[in-house]
Amino acid sequence: MKKFKVAVIAGDGIGPEVINEGIKVLKEIANLSKEFTIDFNYFPWGCEYYLKNGKMMDDNGIDQLKNYDAIYLGAVGYPGVPDHISLWDLLLRIRKEFDQYVNIRPITLMQGTQNVLSEAKREDIDMLFIRENSEGEYAGAGDWLFKGQPEEVVLQTGVFSRKGTERIIRYAFETSRKLGKSLTSISKGNALNYSMVFWDQIFEEVSKEYPDVKTYSYLVDAASMFMIKQPQRFEVVVTSNLFGDILTDLGAALAGGLGLAAGANINPERTYPSMFEPIHGSAPDIAGKGVANPLAAIWSASQMMEFFGYKELAQNILKAIESLLIEGKVLTPDMGGKASTSEVGDQIIKMLAQIIEQSRTQV
Ligand code: NAI
Ligand code: MG
Repeated sequence: MKKFKVAVIAGDGIGPEVINEGIKVLKEIANLSKEFTIDFNYFPWGCEYYLKNGKMMDDNGIDQLKNYDAIYLGAVGYPGVPDHISLWDLLLRIRKEFDQYVNIRPITLMQGTQNVLSEAKREDIDMLFIRENSEGEYAGAGDWLFKGQPEEVVLQTGVFSRKGTERIIRYAFETSRKLGKSLTSISKGNALNYSMVFWDQIFEEVSKEYPDVKTYSYLVDAASMFMIKQPQRFEVVVTSNLFGDILTDLGAALAGGLGLAAGANINPERTYPSMFEPIHGSAPDIAGKGVANPLAAIWSASQMMEFFGYKELAQNILKAIESLLIEGKVLTPDMGGKASTSEVGDQIIKMLAQIIEQSRTQV
């Protein structure tokens, strides 16, 4: 039997609460499938660890993680530790060191989800964001000169390499071709006269290799407007690190809120482990109350299954989420319900068992 090793960094705030439910689901999936087992190994890294040890993770943390098949991350960040430290010293460090240069964020309106756009139907909101995840505006390049003096200057430099830009755009074209969907590039060449002109040029160049893929190109400001007014324009979307970060929170709001939005940080070559996480943060305002929505964490568990090669099981997890939303009885308060985090996890497991049972009796 195949055996997967998953490193769990549950992190801070609601991170451990939602990750627990995702692990419950993954264990159940392994159980029901009888094709593989998953070993979970927990790492206590995060802000609490920082306050005790002065660092977000062990010095050799990257070495400790490198032989896992995947990393399952809750969220990091908590009042008491500056956000740029918690983000850079753990999350961004892992993304960079493991060259997880593709960030896949599905924005799909499930049936049964309360929808902020009253006219939008399920098929109108079904986008796959492919965000550059290794450089761009989050390259961490810059300087802070004359700190505290009247002539103080800060520089935050966007870094767009040919290799980095080409590979993400090519990945997006491959994905569009595989799915038979159009590809939209979102950039800002009119104002960012080096980086985004370059981005647009590379998009144009690579598109010549994919004459079968229909393409669109929007400026990021217009794209934000279209995401609300005409979301059906977007199928597969490729964009830079910063724009992808911002637009996928907007997308999350379109598709039912942050409690549902998942993200996979992928190293396509599989040289290093990939990392799966809900895109929300540690939500200190609701932490410890047992009311956090675990569906985003569970959705990212589905992305992990797909990455491991179990597409049907991954689909079944999404079907269970959709059944739960359609039924509308066991929901956390952010979705208008009264259920606790673990009640939602338990209900997903029940539905999953039914769905897998049904698919077995059908064949
Ligand atoms: P946040 O995503 O933690 O929370 C924003 C709002 O959404 C809050 O009102 C929160 O209660 C709600 N929310 C988020 N996830 C929810 C869930 N699963 N169920 C129900 N409600 C949910 O973003 P915020 O407040 O800006 O950041 C809090 C901390 O998290 C900061 O330290 C930030 O740096 C960190 N952060 C970490 C991320 C990561 O680890 N990937 C991503 C974003 C923020
Ligand atoms: Mg974000």
